Amino acid sequence: MNIILLGAPGAGKGTQASKISDAYNLPHISTGDIFRENIKNQTPIGLLAKSYTDKGQLVPDEVTCKIVEERLSREDCKNGYMLDGFPRTIAQAEALDKIANIDLVINIDVDFSLLLDRLCGRRVCKDCGESYHVSRLNGETKCARCGGELYQRKDDNPETVQSRLDVYKAQTAPLIDYYTKKGIIFNVVGNTTPEDVFQKVAEKLDAMK
Ligand code: AP5
Repeated sequence: MNIILLGAPGAGKGTQASKISDAYNLPHISTGDIFRENIKNQTPIGLLAKSYTDKGQLVPDEVTCKIVEERLSREDCKNGYMLDGFPRTIAQAEALDKIANIDLVINIDVDFSLLLDRLCGRRVCKDCGESYHVSRLNGETKCARCGGELYQRKDDNPETVQSRLDVYKAQTAPLIDYYTKKGIIFNVVGNTTPEDVFQKVAEKLDAMK
């Protein structure tokens, strides 16, 4: 099955992707993670991406689409995959249509009033990418999944988060209509716990098997 996870920054795409990937054995392809890895390794793509991600803006479509096309051509995607954070513009969605058949778009819908706190309180494992929120960590600084160190993403500050939310509204939210018209969207409310959200997603995925 080929799946897209759609939702505003902080909606819980990465959180659900990790659960879906574990339960359904699908490779989790996050363009945000690919850019962060490139930034860490100071590759040419990383140097370019940094100037956009630091400001909460989107990396240009042609760069992003090329990366995704290459990633989807790899062996581990032959039996399905889950895209997290791609597509993010209509142009990216149209480019994806040319190279992939998407079975389901899971749109996680969360009240905007919750997102600033979720993102500014997020801590991420530097080894496996698992996301946590400080309010649930009880002072823990290591990842419960792999023991890696937790850190705060550079773009998880109030100013950059606001810019990411503005970009989402202007450029990514129109994809909800785009995929609704194609009849492949599944809308799930993301205001409840990660476990509740996953249960609803799993019911949908199991019904599609
Ligand atoms: P990316 O890394 O994709 O960031 P994002 O879309 O802003 O999404 P986040 O990772 O911030 O949020 P999430 O929805 O995964 O939430 P999470 O599960 O972590 O992109 C970063 C940058 O890369 C972009 O700004 C852009 O510059 C660039 N980029 C990436 N893709 C691109 C593309 N296609 N085109 C161009 N540029 C691109 O959860 C957040 C927090 O909430 C955590 O603390 C978590 O513990 C908590 N939480 C999650 N679910 C729940 C819940 N149900 N209840 C309570 N708390 C919850």
